This record gives sequence, C-alpha cells and structure tokens, in this order.
Amino acid sequence: MNTKVLEIRKSLKKKLDPFRFEHTMGVAYTCQALAMRYEYDLHKAELAGLLHDCAKRFDNETMLSKCQKREIPMSDGELRDPSLLHAKLGAWYAKEKYGVEDQDILTAIECHTTGKKDMTLLDKILYVADYIEPGRYKASELPEMRKLAFIDLDLACLSIMESILKYLESTNCPIDTTTIDACEDMRRVVAEKQAAVQAVITVDQDTVSPTKEVNNDESVKRNGKNRRIRSGRQKRRRH
Ligand SMILES: [Fe+2]
Ligand SMILES: [Fe+2]
Repeated sequence: MNTKVLEIRKSLKKKLDPFRFEHTMGVAYTCQALAMRYEYDLHKAELAGLLHDCAKRFDNETMLSKCQKREIPMSDGELRDPSLLHAKLGAWYAKEKYGVEDQDILTAIECHTTGKKDMTLLDKILYVADYIEPGRYKASELPEMRKLAFIDLDLACLSIMESILKYLESTNCPIDTTTIDACEDMRRVVAEKQAAVQAVITVDQDTVSPTKEVNNDESVKRNGKNRRIRSGRQKRRRH
C-alpha cells in the first residue's frame, strides 16, 4: 500500500463526517474496479476517488469565500448553486494540501459533479464511480447502471447524465450549463461509437451475404442465374 494513500485516508477520516468518509472509500474502491476493467492506472484512479469530495466538508458560504480568496474562477451556475464549488475547490486542495501534481487527477476531481466536454477515461471513471459506489441506494435504476458501467462506460456516463438532468428538470432548479453541455457531448460520443459499430456490422454482413457472391467468379461458374445478372450489369455499363 502506497504511504501517500494511507496518509490521505488518515487525514480524510479526521476531516470528513463518517457518511462522507464511507462514500469516499466507496468511490475510491469503485474507481479502482473500473480502472481494472478499462485498463487504467489503478493508483491514479484511487487518488481521484479518495480526494474527489475532500472540499465537501465546507458549507456554501465558506466555499464561496475560499474560492474568492484563492482566485478560483466561478461560473454563473456555481454562483447560483455554490455546492457545485466543492469540485473546483477539491481540485485545489488535492494539489495544494495533498500534493497531487498529476493534472489528469486534478481535472477529474474538478469535473466530477457536472461532467464536461471531451471527458477523459479518468474523468468518466470518477464520474460514474461517484454515482454507483456500493453505499449509494437512492436512485431506482442503480442495479442497471452498475451493470452498464462495466459493459460500456460511455453509455453508463450518458445514462447517469440524462438521469441527473431529468431529476434537476423535475425540481425546476436552474441547471448549470456545463452539465447540459457535458450531456450533449456524451450523446455525440455514444452516437459516433454506435455508428462505427453499425458500420462494422454492415461490412461483415456484406462479406457473408449471398448477394455479394454475384460478383464472385467462382459463384458465377456455379450459378447460371448469377451469371445472367452479371452479364446484364456489364451490358448496362457499356451503354
Ligand atoms: Fe462530489
Ligand atoms: Fe461524491
């Protein structure tokens, strides 16, 4: 076990309330499980999970003043709902107080609440782990999300984003534009991936399709009807 990880755990246990600490351990554990599945660096995934909510111990007012003091830029959405700031402030603490220099980890912490455009593998691992960790129980679709996370991370990410947006819309809360943009972007990623898979399936089907045999000389020799079709095509081409 890495001594830095042990020190961070010890510090978090002192600073976070017991519920937040258990959630943190659950997220770190789930980050590692997803990192195993998607062949990502286990240590980086664990650090991202451990530190993602390290600033969540402060109330909104304190977070606002801490961000102002540290000149951390705040969006309109964050000013409207300062609870979102625990992500940016958490990234600041991870770097300045816990000595994390790795930008991948800091960015994953920074976007773990809203998501963002062009999410990296670690961003997605943390975002999904935060939602599905074993201690979560409120969302009705959790069993499906947990399965999906280990089958298709992009699709799991999108399902979670859509579910959160649906919930926020139902509460009539103003929604942070980063959340909407992140969801749009993930829809594009999933659609492109599905189109690429469909293209491969179509090529495979064409390769084994009997109609493809029409252009095959061996099949023409075997099948007079095909020969006629081919001859007809050649005739048409000449005119
Ligand atoms: Fe969080
Ligand atoms: Fe969290």
